[in-house]
Amino acid sequence: MKLEIKYTEKFINKSELEQYKEKAAEANKSLELKSGKGNNFLGWVNLPSETSDNLLNNIYSTVENLNNDIDFMIIIGIGGSYLGAKAVIEALSDNFSAYKNDKKTKILFAGNNLSEDYLYEIRNLIKNKSYAVTVISKSGTTTEPAVAFRILKADLEKKYGKKEAKRRIIAITDKEKGALKKLADNENYKTYVIPDNVGGRFSVLTPVGLLPVAFAGFDIKKIIKGAADAENITKIKGNDAEIYAAVRNILYNKGYTNEILVNYNPKLNFFAEWWKQLYGESEGKDGKGIFPASAGFTTDLHSLGQYIQDGKRNLFETIISVEKSKHKIILEKDEQNLDNLNYLAGKQIEEINKSAEQGTLKAHIDGGVPNIRISIPEINEYNIGKLIYFFERACGISGYILGVNPFDQPGVEEYKRNMFRILGKPGL
Ligand code: PA5
Repeated sequence: MKLEIKYTEKFINKSELEQYKEKAAEANKSLELKSGKGNNFLGWVNLPSETSDNLLNNIYSTVENLNNDIDFMIIIGIGGSYLGAKAVIEALSDNFSAYKNDKKTKILFAGNNLSEDYLYEIRNLIKNKSYAVTVISKSGTTTEPAVAFRILKADLEKKYGKKEAKRRIIAITDKEKGALKKLADNENYKTYVIPDNVGGRFSVLTPVGLLPVAFAGFDIKKIIKGAADAENITKIKGNDAEIYAAVRNILYNKGYTNEILVNYNPKLNFFAEWWKQLYGESEGKDGKGIFPASAGFTTDLHSLGQYIQDGKRNLFETIISVEKSKHKIILEKDEQNLDNLNYLAGKQIEEINKSAEQGTLKAHIDGGVPNIRISIPEINEYNIGKLIYFFERACGISGYILGVNPFDQPGVEEYKRNMFRILGKPGL
């Protein structure tokens, strides 16, 4: 993994960078020493190096016990109890795996919205198939997953009977608190614990993310290895997570208040959704914070491209660039050349994609949009693990430089209070 900040040079000066590098090093030290704000939620800092093979093997054996019997695994969860798993699965999967008629368990997500149509249609899809459910909620009280679970649990029990339904339900929740924990204990479901000191949006490297990813058939040991390597690297003073956090704070203070996470590979579109929650919920508070947005290029160059090039100058971009594609397609020469594409003949599609990336980078910098570039050699479990930890670490550092507690989310409660009042929840 490589971080390049040379595309921000036009927008920031060396002394600013040196000053913010020092702030970033201090912030990183307080993460390491667990001495900063929200330090009771820093379990994620050493999580990769502390993840035992026992836990990973246990997850694999749960997968083995069910995988041959099911067509679908429904993952119920929202926010941090959903985005990480979906991001990793989409990054590692074939773009069209949902349509493939293979023996692999297909992963579906529910409880991540309150759409009646969504729930109806998912029930309709699975009713004549074999399926199981994993319900994930740290608090165990979140409305969206609780509603979906009540409905899908009843379906499972009706279809398979109570005993077999129990075998097909896994719960991931707090070790003692919450309605889900009570329910799981009562029903004797296979249960995994979300550590107390790991907040939802930092939980992808716990069973919250690892179990769904293992069900999807990916190597969770390699993900943890990548994350553990990143954990080691980001301890060191002056590492890339510190630099990324420093640069984005300098830009923020100069009025670049919106960051767009850009990719050139649709497999990473959902990774950006995970990243948006991580940064949005961690930094957006006390009237402060960079607004996290995302774009998938070249697709969005034909939609957001105009604004980025020419609109209000309060944007900067962070590009995730993947050096090597998984597959190779060469554009062949065509004798007639009616489409005038022979100038590209012999080129790999990825070469054309990279040219678009270079061209866009230059155009956007010329248009007044600072760019940060992060490249990974290829998309695989190891590199995704590394990238996840890198962004988590940088997020903690960045939040501390900004002066907020990056590990709470008081603002999320506001809509819930109103909704519960409207619905007449008892006890309000
Ligand atoms: O990051 C967070 O803490 C939140 O986004 C939660 O993950 C989200 O609200 C879901 O909460 P829970 O896992 O308690 O159902």
